[in-house]
Amino acid sequence: MPGPRLGVNVDHVATLRQARRAAYPDPVAAAMLAELAGADQITIHLREDRRHIQDRDLEVMRKTVTTRLNLEMAATQEMVKVAHELRPDEVTLVPERREELTTEGGLDVIRGRDTVARVVKTLRDADVMVSLFIDPDPDQVKAAVRVEAHAIEIHTGRYCDARTPGDRRRELSRVVDAAKTGAKLGLQVAAGHGLNYQNVLPVVAIREIEELNIGHAIVARALLVGMERAVREMKDLLSRGAP
Ligand code: PXP
Repeated sequence: MPGPRLGVNVDHVATLRQARRAAYPDPVAAAMLAELAGADQITIHLREDRRHIQDRDLEVMRKTVTTRLNLEMAATQEMVKVAHELRPDEVTLVPERREELTTEGGLDVIRGRDTVARVVKTLRDADVMVSLFIDPDPDQVKAAVRVEAHAIEIHTGRYCDARTPGDRRRELSRVVDAAKTGAKLGLQVAAGHGLNYQNVLPVVAIREIEELNIGHAIVARALLVGMERAVREMKDLLSRGAP
């Protein structure tokens, strides 16, 4: 088994560039190296405050990414317009608060049902695949089906942050249940957030999870050993741990 597909999130390369408002390091170059090393997808998050990825990065990556481009974005009018112009292969809708360090929780599809449904429809009509980044909660999974998303990405942050073996087991079983529910209901299932070289294997072992999106751990390792090696090492784990 080749294991789940690997989406490499290159936002943090842009974070380093924006720390100096410089032209480098370029996330476009990082995306190319990640693809050469076996990444199956490049994932980027265009935030409202443009703290890392810039509009220019999107435009260039749309032309240079040869695998798939997954755009994470908030369900706002501004972002829907961007997605319409850019036509990424996939949009992942994420919640967004300006003050957060990173995406902290999943999208509340139950509360935001009308807005999410409208955005999903607009993107589907433009032939863009839509995934919803949600907490591992069966009710959110069912809500994702009701708004007609193609896919879900299960938030693994709580599993990754769990401090005790018991908490970790409980959080992992939530991820397993959500993945099974999603697959049974016909959704494509991805997972991500907080995954690293130490904690990824139990998630890889979940048969229903077809894709993982990993950013911080890969970019952090790439800083020390290079992007190609960092991606290859993660790809190896994904194929070794596959069920
Ligand atoms: N998936 C989604 C939807 C995210 O928002 C992020 C963080 O940008 C990731 C995956 C990657 O998370 P991490 O950087 O912790 O690997």
